[in-house]
Amino acid sequence: MKIISNPAELHAAVQSCRRQGKSIGLVPTMGALHEGHKSLVERARRENDVVVVSVFLNPTQFNNKEDLRTYPRTAEADAAMLEACGVDFAFMPTVEDIYPEPDTRVFKLGPVAEVMEGAMRPGHFNGVCQIVSKLFTFVEPDRAYFGEKDFQQIAVIRAMVAQLGFNLEIVTCPCVREADGLAKSSRNVRLTPTVRRVAPAIYKTLKESLDFASFHTVEQTHDWVVATLNAYPEMEVEYFSICDGITLQPVTSWDDSKYVVGCITVYCGDVREIDNITYKNEG
Ligand code: PAF
Repeated sequence: MKIISNPAELHAAVQSCRRQGKSIGLVPTMGALHEGHKSLVERARRENDVVVVSVFLNPTQFNNKEDLRTYPRTAEADAAMLEACGVDFAFMPTVEDIYPEPDTRVFKLGPVAEVMEGAMRPGHFNGVCQIVSKLFTFVEPDRAYFGEKDFQQIAVIRAMVAQLGFNLEIVTCPCVREADGLAKSSRNVRLTPTVRRVAPAIYKTLKESLDFASFHTVEQTHDWVVATLNAYPEMEVEYFSICDGITLQPVTSWDDSKYVVGCITVYCGDVREIDNITYKNEG
């Protein structure tokens, strides 16, 4: 595995592989790698001749400076994991490598980027689009891999790909969970032991809401999930949106869409956990 920090060097190295007719897979990450990232890398490894993984804690997508300051940084362990997974290029740039000049681009991606995380974290998706579009330009991958835990991020990146005309496939991979159901996340190490014990209730409640939804309205299901989780003193639901799985706009009836998902963000102590569940997907 070659570790590269310079974007031009990465571009040249990957282009040389492409000239040999090799397919390229890209896995963008912010480091602090865990089993969820590993599953993306392994899938990219199976489906491409050359695998590039970027490890870059992108400051422009953090609207909360404290979240950026406390985000786990484990560069050495990350490199070791990527090497063990058979990655060809680990792209580990500095902030100056990526942003020699401030990135002033503003992405207008419509309603899909304005709800949920878009409303709660102003500027977040703009920062995601800034870095992901740069990575797509440096690597020009055939496929890029993203985890379904960040459900809205995938929709936003798809919108950006369509708008900017990138010629690549977005591959989505299932959320990887701890044995007790908590979605794997780099931020989980920041949960206190007490909060860590109750946090699995998020996914447990979402799963139980599938049955509840069979006999209740969208509004009743929404309110039941929120009330169940807010009953834990350690947790507070920031939002729970039952919405169309493509447009991400809220639905008011189960018949409003063929594809209905529930997307949730819960404060577990001071750590924001996100998760989602599919209520129906009739293609
Ligand atoms: O999902 C993430 O880890 C980040 O948002 C991404 C896609 C790597 C961009 O920094």
